[in-house]
Amino acid sequence: MKQFVHIFISFLALFLLSCTRPSTTQFVIGVSQCSDDEWRRNMNSEMERELIFHPELSLRFRHAQDNSQLQCAQIDSFIAEGVDLLVICPNEAEEVKPAVSRAYDAGIPVIISDRHVTGEKYTAFVGGDNYQVGRLLADYVSSLADDLSLTADKQIRVLEILGLPHSSPAELRHKGFVDGIRQQPAITIVSQVYADWFQDKARLLVDSVLTVNPAIDVIVAQNDVMALGAHEVVRKRVYDRHVYIVGVDAIAGPNGGVAAILDGYLDASATYPSRGDIVIQTAAAILTHQPYQRETELQTILVNKDVARSMQQMAERTNHEVDAIRMLEQKVGNLNSRWQSQRTATFSLIAFIVLLISCLFVLYRVDRYRKRVHKEREENARLVAQQKEQLDTMRAELNRIKVNKSQDELFVERLQKEMDAHIDDSEWSIEDLSGVLGMSRTQLFRKTKQLMGYAPLDLIRHMRLCKAQQLLQQTDDTIQQIAYATGFATPSYFAKCYRQEFGHAPNEENKIK
Ligand code: FRU
Repeated sequence: MKQFVHIFISFLALFLLSCTRPSTTQFVIGVSQCSDDEWRRNMNSEMERELIFHPELSLRFRHAQDNSQLQCAQIDSFIAEGVDLLVICPNEAEEVKPAVSRAYDAGIPVIISDRHVTGEKYTAFVGGDNYQVGRLLADYVSSLADDLSLTADKQIRVLEILGLPHSSPAELRHKGFVDGIRQQPAITIVSQVYADWFQDKARLLVDSVLTVNPAIDVIVAQNDVMALGAHEVVRKRVYDRHVYIVGVDAIAGPNGGVAAILDGYLDASATYPSRGDIVIQTAAAILTHQPYQRETELQTILVNKDVARSMQQMAERTNHEVDAIRMLEQKVGNLNSRWQSQRTATFSLIAFIVLLISCLFVLYRVDRYRKRVHKEREENARLVAQQKEQLDTMRAELNRIKVNKSQDELFVERLQKEMDAHIDDSEWSIEDLSGVLGMSRTQLFRKTKQLMGYAPLDLIRHMRLCKAQQLLQQTDDTIQQIAYATGFATPSYFAKCYRQEFGHAPNEENKIK
């Protein structure tokens, strides 16, 4: 029975475990984005897509609206929540550093992505090579010399729109650009403005620059968003010539820089890959203690109209494939939940059957026990009845013995009385005695033999002789007198019987005494 209960409990536990869908997420990754724009949304979806291959990870996003203080606070809240790893795209290198250090010091692995942070307190870095981006922009501008029908004295006049001061991409891209055009005396940066990565701000700044200095040949913007802001102004203000506009990011898809190139708004853009997939792969390696690359610098290329076309096609194909993967994923999910519910149903059925069998088994045992108890009770009752019967029989027997005994006593008393009364009567016979006692000679014979061990004649003689002996010892009567007094017809017969009974003659009695 115990075994059965154990099996049942184990089965029930197994059933409950199987019903709860196993949670695959083991690690939570906090993603701290400095901003919320197309480039970051693209990076976020790259990371989410990569989770298909890492079901053990889950992502928690926060974006700091281009505010370093807010970003620090958000990083601190991630630390407080106890996330397993942080991916941080710092707004400004120095301003966000304290919060990054706090996370790192708290033992949380930190992957810095896109923009750098000052100091060494981070676990890994994944991001584009911003210096190279600047060099590419410089190369592009140099390549425009022919198009601009450069004469010996003619210069290529550049307006450089920078991103956020103190953010590493703004600084490095600028450095790369400046280094790239250093050997190109024909290229002159005539104006530099910081538009903090924003389209609106770029529009306003470009407008005022063109007002003061309309002779701009090329606008080099550190991202496509600012480049588009510049384009809006140029379109409205410059009709007589083409002002080249080059940006950075070159995001494929309907809203990115690649579409802007195809639409003719921008002339070129340097890719600035976000590679959320590599960020997730690095995170997974760190969390599972696998080897990983501490510094991953992503390479960049320049996208012109031709490249843009194939990039857009590739992006479309990729999107198509991603959609197919998503669909498959959904199908797998459906199948999985169907399998899950079927498994639950199967286990429920088995559990029900096991429960039923257990109940039947328990019922069977209870029934057997009840029958056994009933049988035992019946047996006990039978034994009690038997004992009672025996007791009754014994009681009856006892009563019978009592009655018999008192009758025997009565018989002996009467016999004694009769014999005492006729002890001196030699004529008194067995017939007389049996007549007085109301029984036949045979009955009398049996009774005296049973109760006293003598036949009636022997008993009478024995009693006469005992009386004679008593008289011999207690009186001075003669032997003759005693012989007659005890019912002997002649003294000689008395003497003979006396000797037979006691082994000596009556006259020797006194001597013995
Ligand atoms: C997006 C963005 C990109 C740029 C990058 C630099 O927030 O401004 O356009 O390339 O950040 O970190």
